[in-house]
Amino acid sequence: MAITNEKAFIAGNWKMHKNIDEAVELVSSLKQAEEELSEAVVVVIPPFTALRQIKKILEGSSLKLGAQNLFWEEKGAFTGEISPPMLKDAGCEYAVIGHSERRQYFGDTDKTVNKKIKAALAQALVPIVCIGESLEERESEQTINKVETQLRAGLEGLGEEDMSQVIIAYEPIWAIGTGLTATPAQAEEVHSFIRDKLEENYGNEIGSCVIILYGGSVKPDNTYSLLKEKNINGALVGGASLEADSFLQIAKQGIKAYKEKT
Ligand code: PGA
Repeated sequence: MAITNEKAFIAGNWKMHKNIDEAVELVSSLKQAEEELSEAVVVVIPPFTALRQIKKILEGSSLKLGAQNLFWEEKGAFTGEISPPMLKDAGCEYAVIGHSERRQYFGDTDKTVNKKIKAALAQALVPIVCIGESLEERESEQTINKVETQLRAGLEGLGEEDMSQVIIAYEPIWAIGTGLTATPAQAEEVHSFIRDKLEENYGNEIGSCVIILYGGSVKPDNTYSLLKEKNINGALVGGASLEADSFLQIAKQGIKAYKEKT
C-alpha cells in the first residue's frame, strides 16, 4: 500500500541521546498523550540500544518506531553494523537514511544512501531519506543543484512502486541543531522543487502523495507556519524531540496546520 501525506507526519530523531531508562520514560509520556495525536503519524527514532524496550512499551499503541541508520547487507562479517532484518526484528517500521551527520562524519554518500534505501525497501522498512545543502552551498545559490543531485543519485534505480514507499526529508545542514530555521518560504521553495521532480519522475499520482518532511531546528513555535506550506507534510525533529512536552506540542501544531490547509 502506498504511503500518503494525508496526515501530518512527525518524527523525533533522538540521535545519540538517552539511555534505556530515559528512553522508556520519554516514550511512556508520549504514549499517555497518544489520543491527542491520532490525527498525525508520530514516529520515535531512538538509539539502537533502546529499540527493543521501546517496542514493548509501544505494543498496541499508534506511535511508530524507527531506526537512525542501517547497513545494506542482511548479515555477515560487518562488525558494528546493523541490518534491515535486525531492525524489523526489533520492531522498526522506518529507517532514517543519509542524515547529514552520517554523510559528514561517517562517510555516507549518495551511492551508499542508494544501497541503503534499496536494502530497507527489500525488508519493507520505510526509508526516510535526508537531503539538504550546506550554508556555503546556499550562499553560492547551489541549493537546488545540490538537492537535485542528491535526489537523482540517491533514488537511482527506484521504480514507481518503490517510490510510493519512500519518505524524503529536506534538512538544510545550516539549520540542523543551530537554532536557525529555514523560513517557511525558503523551505517551501525547495519542497515544491522536490515535489515537481518526483511528479516528473514517478508520475503525478505517486509524486503528489510522497511525504516530504522538513528538518532543521523545528520547534513548537515554528511548526505551524512551516507545516501550513503546501508541500511540507511534516517534520523530522532533533533536539526538540528529546522532551515529551516540546515534541507533543510540535505534533499538535502540525495537526492544527494540516487541518487548516486541507
Ligand atoms: P534539530 O535536528 O531539530 O536538532 O535541528 C534535526 C535533524 O537533524 O534531524
